[in-house]
Amino acid sequence: MPRCCRPLLLAAAALVLSRSAVAQRRFPPDSFTNLKVLPKNIDQRTLLATMRGFAMALGVRCAYCHVAPREDAPLDSIDFAKDDKRTKRAARVMLDMVHHINDEHLADVPERPTPKVEVRCVTCHRGVARPRLLDDELALTLADSGLEAVARRYRDLRQRYYGSGSYDFREIVLTEVARSEARAGRLDNAIGLLNLNAEFNPTSAQIPAALGDVMLQKGDTAAAIAQYRTAVGRDSTFGLARMRLRQLTGGPGRRP
Ligand code: HEC
Ligand code: HEC
Repeated sequence: MPRCCRPLLLAAAALVLSRSAVAQRRFPPDSFTNLKVLPKNIDQRTLLATMRGFAMALGVRCAYCHVAPREDAPLDSIDFAKDDKRTKRAARVMLDMVHHINDEHLADVPERPTPKVEVRCVTCHRGVARPRLLDDELALTLADSGLEAVARRYRDLRQRYYGSGSYDFREIVLTEVARSEARAGRLDNAIGLLNLNAEFNPTSAQIPAALGDVMLQKGDTAAAIAQYRTAVGRDSTFGLARMRLRQLTGGPGRRP
């Protein structure tokens, strides 16, 4: 070989080597080598449909559970058989749990009505990887990081998930978190949460009524009366708010 061309040839060989080292696994793989819960003889289509189901149920991509160079890495660069990610190992526990629930616990339900309701990943997860309910999420954020953080968190979740069914954004949820703060004597938190709630539900009668209760607890009768008046003004059939008004003023809560 002429001297001049050796470096070129070496460079070309190195290129070929590095390309094959980076990726070029086949996707989908012809066989699965590390199934511990799913049946070992599962066919390719069923396995992939199951995996897509996992991703949908948790609102994540394949790389959430599988070792990959990046989150949006091409499928043929992912080593699906590896168990290095905690989330993949957690998903195995979940698979096992779902089998137990369906095959053992639910099978024992007395006179189980048909057609049966079966539990799936999405039954609990609803598009969220750690399926915490909204009230728990808010109470936790409040305890950890305070009122401003909880308002940011609520706006964030609402923006991202409204309409998806992942979280329950009905006004009652925030009102109940506020009431539980009031019961614990944290009145400023309760007022902050109710004001936040009112931003998204400007015609609610329940929210001013709940604010009225907090004002009473605070000993601010005038503010309480104003809130109950707003509540009754928005819903003239609101018995509880009318009753409170009657108790506090002896008057205008009465039906016309
Ligand atoms: C929530 C976690 C999770 C997500 C998301 C997920 N997988 Fe999996 N995947 C698993 C688990 C757990 C196993 C092993 C199951 C077992 O041990 O029986 C597995 C196994 C596999 C296997 C078989 C590997 C082998 O050779 O043993 C392939 C292929 C695979 N997944 C592809 C995908 C693809 C493609 C996606 C995205 C559409 C995906 N997975 C999303 C958890 C997940
Ligand atoms: C009975 C309700 C329920 C069902 C059904 C369920 N999960 Fe979970 N899953 C949970 C809960 C609750 C957590 C959070 C546990 C914690 O971190 O405290 C969780 C956590 C996880 C995690 C870890 C998430 C993280 O980031 O820490 C993965 C992965 C997961 N589940 C996958 C699945 C898959 C896949 C299925 C279906 C095979 C499934 N789950 C079915 C309730 C459920």
